Amino acid sequence: MSEINNIKSSYNRLLQGNRDWAAIKTKEDPEFFKNLTMGQNPEYLWIGCSDSRVPANEITDTKSGEIFVHRNIANLVVHTDMNLMSVVYYAVEVLRVKHIIVCGHYGCGGVLAAMENSDQGFVNNWLRHIKEVYQKNVIELESIQDFKERSNRLVELNVIEQVRNLAKTKVVQNAWKNRTVQVHGWVYGFNDGLITDLNAMHDELIDLEPIFRYKL
Ligand code: CO
Repeated sequence: MSEINNIKSSYNRLLQGNRDWAAIKTKEDPEFFKNLTMGQNPEYLWIGCSDSRVPANEITDTKSGEIFVHRNIANLVVHTDMNLMSVVYYAVEVLRVKHIIVCGHYGCGGVLAAMENSDQGFVNNWLRHIKEVYQKNVIELESIQDFKERSNRLVELNVIEQVRNLAKTKVVQNAWKNRTVQVHGWVYGFNDGLITDLNAMHDELIDLEPIFRYKL
């Protein structure tokens, strides 16, 4: 097969897959798409890694309409990221989600790249945030001899840091003041398909250093 035919067939596979999926969904539940047109009312905001192996709905066995999703390299919560901050604002203030989940994953390419000193081009700027997490926890991390174990721990520490970053936002603090929103830190493992809850949850401002607390 020529290269162009190869590209066409890999592309058409998705469109055919979509048609098959739509037909199955309609057969299973004739109201499925009609219900989706009525709007969304998700209870969860998912902040996950862009990694193709960590699809939010699939690994939590949830359906369209159940999870509001934002994904980026290594599931980072960066306060100057207009995209992420808009998603958080909309999810909390408008959709009024009950849970915000930061889900990292073991073997994360972004975390592994941040542990090296190689030049990752434009991505350097993004990975810098993970290097800061590494440096903040350097004593604990460098006491772990095995590289894979050390990287797994950095994956966890990175998730915990992102949960803390969420807690530092006015949007989340304001939500805590007025209602219950839980923030969770999870790590997904490819080896067994299971999610570990890191219990990094912040639902009280008490966990946050005074300098980060807003008078609301
Ligand atoms: Co990743």
